Amino acid sequence: MDRFRIIGGRSLRGRVTISGAKNSALPCMAAALLTSESVTLHNVPYVRDIITQRRLLEDLGAHVLTPELRTHKIACAHIELFEAPYDLVKTMRASVLVLGPLLARFGKAKVSLPGGCAIGTRPIDLHLEALQRLGAQVNLEAGYVVARVPQRGRLQGAEVNFDKVTVTGTENLLMAATLAEGRTVINNAAREPEIIDLCELLNRMGARVRGAGTPTITIDGVEALGAAEHTIIPDRIETGTFLTAAAITGGELEIKDCRPEHSAIVIAKLREVGVEIEEINQSTLHVRCCADDLCARDVVTEPHPRFPTDMQAQYMALMTQTRGTARITETIFENRFMHASELQRMGARIRIEGHMAVVEGPTPLMGARVQASDLRASASLVLAGLVAAGETIIERVYHIDRGYEKIEAKLRAVGAEIERVRDSVTANLPPPAEVGALQTEA
Ligand code: EPZ
Repeated sequence: MDRFRIIGGRSLRGRVTISGAKNSALPCMAAALLTSESVTLHNVPYVRDIITQRRLLEDLGAHVLTPELRTHKIACAHIELFEAPYDLVKTMRASVLVLGPLLARFGKAKVSLPGGCAIGTRPIDLHLEALQRLGAQVNLEAGYVVARVPQRGRLQGAEVNFDKVTVTGTENLLMAATLAEGRTVINNAAREPEIIDLCELLNRMGARVRGAGTPTITIDGVEALGAAEHTIIPDRIETGTFLTAAAITGGELEIKDCRPEHSAIVIAKLREVGVEIEEINQSTLHVRCCADDLCARDVVTEPHPRFPTDMQAQYMALMTQTRGTARITETIFENRFMHASELQRMGARIRIEGHMAVVEGPTPLMGARVQASDLRASASLVLAGLVAAGETIIERVYHIDRGYEKIEAKLRAVGAEIERVRDSVTANLPPPAEVGALQTEA
């Protein structure tokens, strides 16, 4: 398994280009199942989860062409299989996003239950209840969800109230509702930019979706969807990660091809901490920071547009370098502090009190051998390594490869001393399945 070797202490300076958003590309790829015509997606990030999603679609019978590295042309004219197998779903939870489209277009789907993962139990009960509201019959058989539409008919539009905001639950229901008979109204829908991006693609395909980005989304079902071309939005979490990298190293970065409006809450919080961030234009940010005048600030993770849980780990790394005490409250996942113990091994002063991590700073970090546990925890350890004295070795970096495109190359290009150390034995093997039923998150 590859590892990163980082020598800390360098301030980052230069220009970083943001890749497409993994968490938009994944549902948009699944949406191609809703039509027999071609769906072309541009600005798809070249990351491991996208490769996994492509493999799943091809296993179902889709034809996927990549005329360029970040352009995927997906044709689902000849889908012969309607199953997302366990060995795939356990490595990438987002595989469950094929459930809604398969059910809507073909009236059947068999998808492995995702099981727990590094950051929490992460059930899909809300997905299943929502699809049942549209008339789907759902049974659990040997760890699989077996769903079908009775009498090979069509799903029926309905009003669905999500008790809890669920991003992929909203996405699965949205996609299913586009081909249902009649109107579906989703209450307490997720409002993430990735939801808006998916709805833009669906409407380009001929769907009739209104209210994306608000808590109430209305979908009027149509008979069939058609071809479309769409460019995936930039990754707001990668943007936040590089903003934090500039802050923690006391550097200065120009961040290109981003969407500042999607990172508004993260920008506001970093400004409170004392980071200077300027919006140059609609796709460029300029961030500058003198590391020794940063103040600790509390944060609570909540659904968009509040502070994203996917930035919590990166923010915790930064709080080890700020003056004072920061209380970081994680309200989305029940086990998303795995990075704290690794940061402690680097000298961080962090106390876990239930769903809150209390971070004292500033604390000089020392390089150490640490282990990544999930995608965003890996990013947190990279940020800590950039500021730690001496050498940091981060193991199991396949976690970070799931959601960051060539992060070590992007960091090296702005002055970081970071290299990927390939493990000769497993250099070309796929990542090991997580221990036991543990899947990796996404
Ligand atoms: C999406 O996961 C993202 N993944 C996650 O990003 C992100 O952390 C999460 O949303 C929250 O923003 C993708 O978009 C592919 P949820 P998702 O359903 O949809 C509970 C990353 O790092 N819940 O919004 O799986 C759930 O356990 C990944 O890129 C149920 O109880 O998250 C959690 O506590 C990690 N039942 C909360 O709701 C359900 O049926 C929010 O989960 C569904 C969810």
